[in-house]
Order: sequence, then structure tokens, then C-alpha cells
Amino acid sequence: MKIVMLGAPGAGKGTQAKMISEKYGIPHISTGDIFRANIKDNTELGQKAKEYMDKGLLVPDELVVDLVVDRLAQDDAKKGYVLDGFPRTIPQAEALTEALNKIGEKLDYAIDVDVPDENIVNRMSGRRACVKCGGTYHIKYNPTKVENVCDACGGELILRDDDKPETVQQRLSVYHEQTQPLIDYYTKEGILKEVDGTVDLNDVFDAIVKILE
Ligand code: AP5
Ligand code: MG
Ligand code: ZN
Repeated sequence: MKIVMLGAPGAGKGTQAKMISEKYGIPHISTGDIFRANIKDNTELGQKAKEYMDKGLLVPDELVVDLVVDRLAQDDAKKGYVLDGFPRTIPQAEALTEALNKIGEKLDYAIDVDVPDENIVNRMSGRRACVKCGGTYHIKYNPTKVENVCDACGGELILRDDDKPETVQQRLSVYHEQTQPLIDYYTKEGILKEVDGTVDLNDVFDAIVKILE
């Protein structure tokens, strides 16, 4: 099963991708998590990506595409994957389609988690993220058992640098301009599915499972 998650920043792509990954035993591949891990390790890629991420802008396509194509070639991705945060531009979507075509594969579903902008800023301020495993929580809607400690790996939770309200606004406008066109792209490919992302996260997940089964 090869799935792409679409949706605005904070729509819940990461939250749902993790649940899908656990239920179906396929890797959760998040380009945002890959960049954040590189920033933490202070790699060259991390330093480059941080310049864009902190401003709420997209990292240039050429720094993203090869990274994902290489990741998809690894053994654990043979049985499928859930992509979260990629593709995010039409050129990225085209590059993915082309890379899959080359090996005779195609995506099964593009799932758009729909949440209006008004709900997003509020959500982001309560988000906490694990730097170690990428786990995502919310102080009110999805709290950890022990405050500031990741349930999954025991890692420390942080507030993301790009979750400041003004950066969130910038990310939302970048989303509408550069990423929302993918909804049309995958509609034309015949694989787009919409879910309402404003309801409880378990209900969002139930809706997704219905689509997948
Ligand atoms: P990325 O890490 O992908 O961030 P994003 O798209 O902005 O999305 P988020 O991770 O902020 O939100 P999400 O949809 O995963 O929501 P979450 O599940 O956390 O990218 C960060 C940056 O990296 C980009 O801005 C860009 O610079 C760069 N980048 C990454 N990929 C790139 C690419 N392909 N090309 C170029 N640049 C790239 O949920 C949000 C919060 O809400 C959480 O606290 C959660 O607990 C809570 N929540 C979730 N669901 C619900 C619910 N149903 N009800 C209530 N609360 C909920
Ligand atoms: Mg995310
Ligand atoms: Zn963790």
C-alpha cells in the first residue's frame, strides 16, 4: 500500500501517518522529520533546510526529491509506505510519479486531511514534537502520559521553531500557493480521497481505515 498524505500544516498528516504506519506495518516517511533530524545532527543538509524552514518557506525541490527517491528504494519500503509532507509542489509530485513509473509502480491513495485555516493556529501552539522519533502530541488533544516525555521512545518533547503564530501564517500561505494544487493533480490521477480533519483524531483515523479497506 503506497499512500501520500496531503493537508495544510497542522492538519494532522503526521498524527494519522503514524497510526497508519502502525496498523499496516509500513514505514512512515516524513520529509519534515528527516530535515529536523538533520538539523539536530547539524549536517550540511540540516543547515541548508533550516534557513527555509524557520521562515515558513519550502526547502528547494532539488534538496528534497533525491532524498525521498533514495529512501523509497530501501528494503522496508518494498511493501509500501505512507509519505507525509512529500510531495508538496507539482514538480515534486511529477518527480515522484516518474520515479515510480520507472520501476513499474504507482501510488494507491492520496489522502487529503481537510482542516480550515482558522483551526490551525490554535492547534499549533499546543503541539509538542519528539526530536528523537518524530512523535507528535498536543497538550490538550493528544497529551503524553508523562509531561514532556515521548510515550513511544522516552525522548524529550520540544516546541517546533516553526510553530510561532507568524511563521504558521506564512506556512499556510505557502501551502495554499504551492501545495494545494496537488489536490487537483491527484484528483486527475484518480486516487484522491478526502477526510474531515476537524473531528477527534481517532474518528479521522476511522475514516481513513474505511478508505483503505
Ligand atoms: P512538515 O514537518 O511536513 O510540516 P507541515 O506540513 O507544516 O505539517 P505539520 O507537521 O506542521 O503538521 P501535520 O499535518 O503533520 O500535523 P500534526 O499531525 O503534527 O514540514 C516542515 C517544514 O519542512 C516545511 O515548512 C518545509 O520548510 C520543510 N519541508 C518538509 N517537507 C518538504 C518538502 N517535501 N518540500 C519542501 N520543503 C519541505 O498535528 C498538528 C497538531 O494538532 C498536533 O499537536 C496534533 O497532536 C494535533 N492534532 C492532530 N489531529 C488532531 C485532531 N483531529 N484534533 C485535534 N488536534 C489534532
Ligand atoms: Mg507533520
Ligand atoms: Zn519519540
